[in-house]
Amino acid sequence: MTTVLNYVAPLDQDNLPSAKSGTDLIQIQGGKRLNGTIEISGAKNAALPLMCAALLTEDAVRFTNMPNTLRDMRTLTAVLQSLGAEVTAGPAGEMVIRAETIDDAHADYELVRQMRASILVLGPLVARFGEAEVSLPGGCAIGTRPIDLHLMGLEAMGAKIDLQDGYVRASAPNGLQGAAITFAKVSVGATENLMMAACLAKGKTTLINAAKEPEIVDLGELLIAMGGQIEGLGTSTITITGVERMNGATHSVVADRIETGTYMIAVALTGGTLRLKNTQLRFLEALVAPLKKAGVSFDVEGEDVIVHRNGTPLVGTDIMTEPFPGFPTDLQAQFMTMLTQCEGAGMVTETIFENRFMHVPELCRMGANITVHNGSAIVRGVKRLKGAEVMATDLRASVALVLAGLVAEGTTTVNRIYHLDRGYENLVEKLQACGAEISRIRAIE
Ligand code: UD1
Repeated sequence: MTTVLNYVAPLDQDNLPSAKSGTDLIQIQGGKRLNGTIEISGAKNAALPLMCAALLTEDAVRFTNMPNTLRDMRTLTAVLQSLGAEVTAGPAGEMVIRAETIDDAHADYELVRQMRASILVLGPLVARFGEAEVSLPGGCAIGTRPIDLHLMGLEAMGAKIDLQDGYVRASAPNGLQGAAITFAKVSVGATENLMMAACLAKGKTTLINAAKEPEIVDLGELLIAMGGQIEGLGTSTITITGVERMNGATHSVVADRIETGTYMIAVALTGGTLRLKNTQLRFLEALVAPLKKAGVSFDVEGEDVIVHRNGTPLVGTDIMTEPFPGFPTDLQAQFMTMLTQCEGAGMVTETIFENRFMHVPELCRMGANITVHNGSAIVRGVKRLKGAEVMATDLRASVALVLAGLVAEGTTTVNRIYHLDRGYENLVEKLQACGAEISRIRAIE
């Protein structure tokens, strides 16, 4: 089968580098207010499972508003192509995936290790082809992140699971059977994997204690357009009645609530007014409430959200990360940066991942006053952060350091910015257009 990718995103590192030397940097001169308009991209965390859902059908699945320039999108494109699917992507967020036949239901370690979400091909592949082999994703910077819930669910649906040589082999030669599956813990990825698998299983599957994230609802809406029978989207009990065959569909990806929240926190930090285009406030209530308490105000005009902080000092407030609709763990690091600039103190409690305070020592190198005790951090406001050379080990921690640079005195240099390329489209350009003094410095080859 031919594989086509006629649009290559403008990223410059094809292999993940392991040291800071030889990689691009971001340099920021702090102290500029942000004023202007930012176009919000389609959500990465919706786009990845949506791409995997295309494996459920031999027909073409068409997307708009895909964040095609992100590294994670390129990685998953490579995974789907390695399976034998055709993927075409365009510069304005268009993507077409046709998985008419699959050459080999095997997702290799070299690709899967770059991005954990690759595990989301497992459910669709085993449901449609009766077998699949996917590399175990391995460790990651924000905790051990097992996939036991994904595997438990597939086993409950009758798949035989073997772990061998670093790979998960799932087989169900006579097809999957619907089952009642109760998750011991809320998992976005496991809910997605099993929701997709259940679409082609025989009979009814009930997912109990399922995740309710907007990205799950977005995936469910595509699956329904593809012929899936799903009830209870956005609630903790999702019921899927299997069908014989799924068909092609067209789908526009939901706005990225994490990107939206990141820019809300940016303007909270710097002061000014930002118009965030094509996004939705209703997915961010858990962030908007503490931001309002801290002194930020919001207006909504159609699909645009306008965020202001003009003159008022920020006030410290507490947050705790929780599954949706709670405060998103993917905005925890950015919120902590904001607390460093508040009057008084704020407490941040992380309940989703066990090792997600890696940004704390870097923020402290910039002058922040943060004390961590187990899963909680007390952030005491300081007058000013000071620019420094910093680096981070994951996507959201990296952007938290960019936000710190926007308000720090002097120059901040953020290393290892390939993490940012995984999840923020045109971050530097979007901030520059609103008055930030920020630039990307290309590595010398
Ligand atoms: C997704 C998001 C990620 C976000 C996270 C939590 C994508 C591509 N990524 O990740 O950005 O931070 O949701 O909102 O959408 N767990 C288990 N066993 C499993 C699966 C998960 O114990 O089989 C645990 C994890 O270690 C973690 C918690 O459950 O502590 C939540 O993880 P999960 O919701 O599955 O996160 P992801 O889907 O990997």
